[in-house]
Amino acid sequence: MLHKELPTAAQLHQFKSDIADRMHIDVQFAQIFNGFTQTAHPMSMLCAAVAGLASLFHNGLDIYNAAHRVESALQLIAKIPTLAAMSYRKSIGATFVDPDPALGYAENFLNMCFGETGRPSQVSPTLAQALDKIFILHADHEQNASTSTVRLAGSTEANPYAAIAAGIAALWGPSHGGANEAVLDMLNEIGDLSRVGEYLDKAKDKEDPFKLMGFGHRVYKNFDPRATVMQASCHAVLAEQGVDDEPLLKVASALEKIAREEAYFIDRKLYPNIDFYSGITLKAMGIPTPMYTVLFALGRMPGWIAHWSEMLSSPFKIGRPRQLYLGPVKRDYVPMDQR
Ligand code: CMC
Repeated sequence: MLHKELPTAAQLHQFKSDIADRMHIDVQFAQIFNGFTQTAHPMSMLCAAVAGLASLFHNGLDIYNAAHRVESALQLIAKIPTLAAMSYRKSIGATFVDPDPALGYAENFLNMCFGETGRPSQVSPTLAQALDKIFILHADHEQNASTSTVRLAGSTEANPYAAIAAGIAALWGPSHGGANEAVLDMLNEIGDLSRVGEYLDKAKDKEDPFKLMGFGHRVYKNFDPRATVMQASCHAVLAEQGVDDEPLLKVASALEKIAREEAYFIDRKLYPNIDFYSGITLKAMGIPTPMYTVLFALGRMPGWIAHWSEMLSSPFKIGRPRQLYLGPVKRDYVPMDQR
């Protein structure tokens, strides 16, 4: 995505080594996490830490220089797993684990979350592969809300780390990247197979704001092709972890089956989306729920930065959505003492 062509073996080797060289976070910069309470959501820490990188890479950064843009891309892709893992370690009150450049990208991230500095990685290859698949499936998805946000912020010629932080903020909402976390919250709330019907009724009730999380998509009105791949990967992880009979996962299967048979969902073309399966997969992998959207951000990073770089590489203008005003036309000013 960054270079528009698949790499040769030599280019791939160089890319991996460029990423490995940039994974470490400066000890002084890591202090940023000390400012957060332990109950802080990892997304808020990730957003702040990525915006904070702008303080390290601002002076001398020329966004119109292609080599500087490549350097920004490498820094962000290399550092996001480290910052994401640090946000998790902070949230559980644990010390940070150093990145290990010898491990694969997904394995290194899992090791920084669940391993120990200096101890060989204990990460299961199946889980590392499933996470790698999640990253690849999330890497880019054209003009979704967070990517458009990165482009809009970037169109002001803002520092790229700040523009990406804006994208992370946009991703957090439950209608977008936050949906994978919301899926698990919803499954927890339903709690038992006997309550699935009640929640399907709530989803169909126009007076009730409840929506079936992990269903529907603004663009895909038939099926989310990423969900098909994720569904298979999800079943592989469930089998490897031996958790097929977990009550929440039973609720998820029942919900999926019934929703796909009901007229309400069929008529509105509401199918399970990628977040439905990625949420369940991450649950089976033992990843804590507040980390789900962080993982989405990690996966989406190459797409965000490729969009930003692509925009800057040819003539562009500041983004400026127009509004269609529908309010009152003219109102007289009413002095304070008469209101
Ligand atoms: N549960 C129940 N009803 C729904 C749902 C849902 N999840 N999604 C849409 N509807 C209904 C909606 O009420 C409307 O009904 P009616 O025509 O009777 O008024 C109809 O379906 C069309 O909905 P819409 O709001 O016009 O659809 P949209 O394309 O604007 O919204 C969406 C897309 C993804 C925001 C929405 O489907 C949703 O909120 N889904 C749940 C959250 C979710 O899973 N988001 C992740 C999306 S995929 C990953 C990503 O992009 O980040």
